Amino acid sequence: MSEKIIAPKGLVGVVVDQTAVSKVLAEESKLIYRGYAVDELADKSTSDEVAYLLVYGHLPNAEELTAFQSKEAKNRGLSKELLQAITLFPKHAHPMDVLQSAIAFLGMEDSRVWENDRETNLDKFDSLYAKIPSIVAAGYRNSIGKEAIAPNPELGRVENFFYMCFGQVPSKDILDAFDVSLILYAEHSFNASTFTTRVVTSTTSDIYSAVVAGVGALKGPLHGGANEQVMYVLKEIGEPDKAKAWMENKIANREKVMGFGHRVYRLGDSRVPSMKKAMHKVSDAVGEQKWRQISDILEEVMVGAKGIHPNLDFPAGPAYYMMGFPIDLFTPIFVMSRVSGWVAHILEQNVDNKIIRPLSEYVGEGLRPVPSK
Ligand code: COA
Repeated sequence: MSEKIIAPKGLVGVVVDQTAVSKVLAEESKLIYRGYAVDELADKSTSDEVAYLLVYGHLPNAEELTAFQSKEAKNRGLSKELLQAITLFPKHAHPMDVLQSAIAFLGMEDSRVWENDRETNLDKFDSLYAKIPSIVAAGYRNSIGKEAIAPNPELGRVENFFYMCFGQVPSKDILDAFDVSLILYAEHSFNASTFTTRVVTSTTSDIYSAVVAGVGALKGPLHGGANEQVMYVLKEIGEPDKAKAWMENKIANREKVMGFGHRVYRLGDSRVPSMKKAMHKVSDAVGEQKWRQISDILEEVMVGAKGIHPNLDFPAGPAYYMMGFPIDLFTPIFVMSRVSGWVAHILEQNVDNKIIRPLSEYVGEGLRPVPSK
């Protein structure tokens, strides 16, 4: 066995493996997915194309995209057993918990659950990509005491998601802004939830188990759950004229403010400019400027005082809120997108797998006898 390496807490600065899926260029505030800059993808492509790029490894040509989208439209339906199970979950359950249970249910329904070859896992991805929005929407409908709306195969994935939640499809501006958020949320190298999915996969467990674990990690407010916390903060502040004092008070008390800071980016999150633009589009489309104004003031005060920049969750939270989503649906929406990044990493981990199993330094009691009875 080789010499022991003591890793810093939180594995800060530790490179644990190689990946060809994405790269964060912290110094340039840039993120690339398989070689393409994410801000360029946000301008020129769609979330379906980006999902395909991440998982299949290249941008789809017209034929590949049509096949991928028609498979997605066909795969959206949930079994009546799963739909019924969702209605039995507590109405107050967090949608991320509903999602974990429902994805585990999909695994139980899949007779090929243990088959881990690439082709079968690609089929499972196609199915998860289609069904996760249906689960999020059905869970939401259940939480408000309403029946799930069956997917409409005539609609694209994003349009259909709005339709399954609200029974209608919003304007193109809203759809475009939502699509941009999915592109930006799709992948971010070895973040906590992606690393979690790789750890689970490394044990040669199945793809559903890895994705369920990823959902659990993403739920935390220090990770994906921050987009929900951002909106609670904006609502707590309530009005633009209260924002400056609120932030100064947090800074004076050395309190953490959700939606700011990042482990990798110290000079600003590469995804923020594209998401800000999308959030402004939503503000204009719904005629609501308040959240944007509060956000601008918070950012100005925080960057000015501590040089800590907002991360993607900061503009994404208010954008989703103005689109009409309840706050606890924000992180499940993140999953609708991040499942592509997770699966890209799961497939990559499987190619040259070694179980991820670090060591620990024991600091507990010394060896002692068990007291006799
Ligand atoms: N608000 C206020 N101060 C913050 C901050 C925030 N959101 N994020 C970091 N800082 C400060 C810390 O207090 C610390 O200051 P100190 O050195 O004076 O103690 C310094 O910046 C480093 O922060 P640290 O928490 O050690 O960085 P990290 O790399 O371990 O954590 C995050 C990164 C993302 C977990 C952290 O920035 C955070 O908790 N942000 C809020 C949650 C969030 O938005 N998460 C979504 C991430 S995409």
